[in-house]
Amino acid sequence: MSNSILNEQIASPQSDGTRHHPPFEITRQIEQEAELRIRQYPNDRKRSAVLPLLHIVQSEFGFISPEAIEWVAAKLDLEPIKVEEVVTFYPGLRQHAPGKYHIRICRTLSCAMGGSYELMDKICELAGIDRSRTSHHNPIAVSPCGTWSVEFAECLASCGTAPVCLVNNDFHEDLPAAKASELFENYK
Ligand code: FES
Repeated sequence: MSNSILNEQIASPQSDGTRHHPPFEITRQIEQEAELRIRQYPNDRKRSAVLPLLHIVQSEFGFISPEAIEWVAAKLDLEPIKVEEVVTFYPGLRQHAPGKYHIRICRTLSCAMGGSYELMDKICELAGIDRSRTSHHNPIAVSPCGTWSVEFAECLASCGTAPVCLVNNDFHEDLPAAKASELFENYK
């Protein structure tokens, strides 16, 4: 494989949200945290630390880049494809940089009936987000300023207060489209 193709495959995908996240660089602190997680499993089962390590990466860098997959694989003596299989299996693990504020809107039955699709449309309108290029492999759409991003999520376990969404780790319930602009006020 030529170097240029290889570089293309392992280079981080860029999005308008990239500017809000640090470049992938393993610090001493991350290394120590990873070692701590790995030691929680028997030596011959250290592959079980794959999810904790991926969560560390995502919380530090906003998403899991190809470089991060290589790093996690090396830490756990796995082939990178094994780590990639985990990343692509769980929708909560992101392969593209979200915005500074990532909004996950539930689209499962109660929320869909309560107006989550209308909420998504309104949020996109307010943030200037174009969702037309989202796909199964890249479900995240980012505003041109990189501040906002959206993604549909499955049931967020608060069906009685539909429609609901998460903004980063903050939960917002009973949020019809008419209240979408109030949501933005919290994140100036
Ligand atoms: S259907 Fe939306 S939280 Fe359950």
